[in-house]
Amino acid sequence: MSPFGFNDPLTAIASVVTGVAIVLSLIKYYLYLTCGHFTSSRKMEGKTVIITGANSGIGKETARDLARRGARVIMACRNMETAKQAQDEIVKETGNQNVLVLKLDLSSQASVREFAAEVLRTERRLDVLVHNAGFAETFRKTRSVDGIEFTMATNHYGPFLLTHLLIELLKRSAPARIVVVASELYRFASVNLDNLNPVGSLPAYLYYVSKCANIMFTRELARRLEGTSVTVNCLHPGMIDSGIWRNVPFPLTLPMRVIKSFFKTTVEGAQTTLYLACSEEVQGVSGKYFMDCKEASLSASISDMARAAKLWDESAKMVKLTEKEIMAETGNTKLLIKHVDISSLPSVRAFAKEIVATEPVIDVLIHNAGVAQGFNNKVTPDGLEFTMATNYYGPFLLTHLLIDPLKKSDQGRIVIVSSKLYQFASLNPANPNSINPVNYFSLFPIHLYNLSKFAEIMFTQELARRLQGTRVTANCLHPGVIDTGIWRNVPFPLSVLFKPIQMCFRTPEEGARTSIYLAVSPDVEQISGQYFRGCRVHQLNQRVQHVAKQRALWEASRKLVKLTDEDPQI
Ligand SMILES: NC(=O)c1ccc[n+]([C@@H]2O[C@H](COP(=O)([O-])OP(=O)(O)OC[C@H]3O[C@@H](n4cnc5c(N)ncnc54)[C@H](OP(=O)(O)O)[C@@H]3O)[C@@H](O)[C@H]2O)c1
Repeated sequence: MSPFGFNDPLTAIASVVTGVAIVLSLIKYYLYLTCGHFTSSRKMEGKTVIITGANSGIGKETARDLARRGARVIMACRNMETAKQAQDEIVKETGNQNVLVLKLDLSSQASVREFAAEVLRTERRLDVLVHNAGFAETFRKTRSVDGIEFTMATNHYGPFLLTHLLIELLKRSAPARIVVVASELYRFASVNLDNLNPVGSLPAYLYYVSKCANIMFTRELARRLEGTSVTVNCLHPGMIDSGIWRNVPFPLTLPMRVIKSFFKTTVEGAQTTLYLACSEEVQGVSGKYFMDCKEASLSASISDMARAAKLWDESAKMVKLTEKEIMAETGNTKLLIKHVDISSLPSVRAFAKEIVATEPVIDVLIHNAGVAQGFNNKVTPDGLEFTMATNYYGPFLLTHLLIDPLKKSDQGRIVIVSSKLYQFASLNPANPNSINPVNYFSLFPIHLYNLSKFAEIMFTQELARRLQGTRVTANCLHPGVIDTGIWRNVPFPLSVLFKPIQMCFRTPEEGARTSIYLAVSPDVEQISGQYFRGCRVHQLNQRVQHVAKQRALWEASRKLVKLTDEDPQI
């Protein structure tokens, strides 16, 4: 008898095989149960949808489902033969005659432009654009007809260009949606912003890179589309048994066959795309990443918006966007993103240096950044208390470093977003622990925030006095109580009580009104040193207006931010 209690080896083998089969079946069943299913019966009649790569795999199933829902489906494919077969199959099965095939090779910029021109010529609306097509290669390095690395050309640059060419039509059809099929495999790579045409890299790795680019593109596009009613979201469809694996070389194909038996079917793979294309639940949701019909989190490394903006700018050059095409997307070509960590004195200096080098004139400087830290107060590497460093000392230094380009403006304006919570604080410049409260402890977690807002107002008034006789004004404001991320550090259990209260606060759009008023309105051209609420001058309490204390704070601040005689003086 064997140690496991079997009488003969055959029974032992059969039992092990049966055991393994049961375990594998249970895993497969578990994967089936945890797979997201879009069960809504929502119709898409009257809607026009473009799906790239709709001749096979996930794209074909997406086209089939949307045709069943009554949409006009444009299958954008490079292989017209398989595309026509898929079209016939879908039309026959769904009875929807409104399923068309148009030629699109995403790796070729000329083909993308031809395709877009044809769509703009023939379609009066576009409700959903699904960037589904994808290409993966393992070892074979290839370039597109435009000389771009092939995987990046197909998976990132092609969709980037196509989006620009169709964005006006999407905006005219709003509410409209863009859906980007990315992949969780993005986690294994990062986009090298110094080499955006990586012709020498391994294509297998570049597939992951291209999926990173898909996500960065989605997030930056969502940011640029804010306020337009065109949303964009990306997704991981799951690991799907589809044609995307066709270039896996022998002998890797053998283990791949076993692994693929655990993958989802293409119908299952289409569920999250369909959810994002049709579901009412995601109406208005933009810039998010989804998996199994639910929002999923992204790694911190891919969430850096300065990197996303750089990728965007470089991609625009790579696909040779014209000025007019760039304008179509935001209406403004002059939207730049620059990095600054306002809590760090070296970062403020680096940022200011770049701005001074590139912008001879600054008309408006809005000190809007701010933090509220709860109990979690920290000290910055410059030795400053973190909340004061971010809300007050960083802006104090930055104002000095940018004062020369501000003075060159016909009417320079400095706008400081403070808060009415200043009323609950008091700052004594003679006390080192009041101006730099590194050892501060209060039972009220918001106290340091209040103190920093008090400092901002003292700063505004002293600044306005020092700027008298120049063409630069300085005013501060209370934006209202606004539902934004500033409340993210409210500590538990207060946070539980706070959530429903927060929902009654004003919107960020309402919160921006007084800042915009102070930045642009001719009404305030001659006004300086004032505090505004609801676009009107508001009275301040006496404590914050103490002139001698304001001067003393200014002098102490100069030392704390290490201003030198070589720096611009105010
Ligand atoms: N399968 C997975 O496990 C998995 C996981 C995560 C993400 N994804 C993503 O899911 C999407 C769909 O892939 P799939 O799994 O359904 O694979 P698939 O069956 O190979 O489908 C890919 C589609 O993209 C098309 N395509 C490739 N290069 C193109 C080009 N230059 N121009 C136009 N179309 C092109 C293909 O057309 P041809 O038939 O002409 O080649 C095909 O229709 C891809 O973006 C992929 O990256 C898949």
